[in-house]
Amino acid sequence: MKIGILGTGSVAQALAGGCVEAGHTVTLGSRHPKSRTDLPYPVDALEATARDAEVVVNATPGASSLELLAQLDPGVFSGKLLIDVSNAATSAFDLLYPDSSLGEKLQGMLPDAKVVKTLNTCAGKVFVNPSSLDPSSIFVSGDDAAAKSQSMGLLRDLGWTEDAIVDLGGISTAKGPEHYFIMWAYLTDALGTTGLNMCVVS
Ligand SMILES: NC(=O)c1ccc[n+]([C@@H]2O[C@H](COP(=O)([O-])OP(=O)(O)OC[C@H]3O[C@@H](n4cnc5c(N)ncnc54)[C@H](OP(=O)(O)O)[C@@H]3O)[C@@H](O)[C@H]2O)c1
Repeated sequence: MKIGILGTGSVAQALAGGCVEAGHTVTLGSRHPKSRTDLPYPVDALEATARDAEVVVNATPGASSLELLAQLDPGVFSGKLLIDVSNAATSAFDLLYPDSSLGEKLQGMLPDAKVVKTLNTCAGKVFVNPSSLDPSSIFVSGDDAAAKSQSMGLLRDLGWTEDAIVDLGGISTAKGPEHYFIMWAYLTDALGTTGLNMCVVS
């Protein structure tokens, strides 16, 4: 699959590594593609990255994602799975969308895209290597069943087992995993590591 990841930060790079290892082709999208010659993946402009991809991932800072993606031609997302891994919080770690979520806002802004929220609840080093921890959980939220199924396929490619993947429902449920960000931040402080994740038991 041709995957375009918007962003060139640690999360984009971790995800790129996991996707390439699984056999996918990856391009990273940058605001300054010409200056990002330091990365081991092809880098292109944001709009071109989204246009050329079969699946697009938003791995930009959640506080700027809406503004950033609004500058791109919405047609480049049309009919495509748009995986949103970002957390929208202020620098003081307050939620930017306390009554909603970035995932839901992106779907509202890009009605022809198929937005799926996932991979925002653990660090990149965990989500590309889930077996580095005891079995834990990963969540998906999205309105389009086929897009969600495609996302789950990608999660399996990254090493997540069927049991680990929790389908929360439509994109309105993205506010659950997004609001967990605050708890995740407290946990990483309390335990002194980002190498952690939650496991749902019932
Ligand atoms: N850190 C984690 O463990 C973790 C885990 C899961 C999800 N997330 C979420 O994943 C997203 C990416 O995380 P990250 O740690 O990779 O973020 P980051 O290091 O800040 O990188 C984000 C990239 O987005 C691009 N960008 C676009 N607009 C930007 C702006 N206004 N300010 C700064 N950079 C901008 C930059 O690439 P160019 O300069 O090349 O354009 C930058 O490298 C965030 O929303 C984060 O909340 C993080």
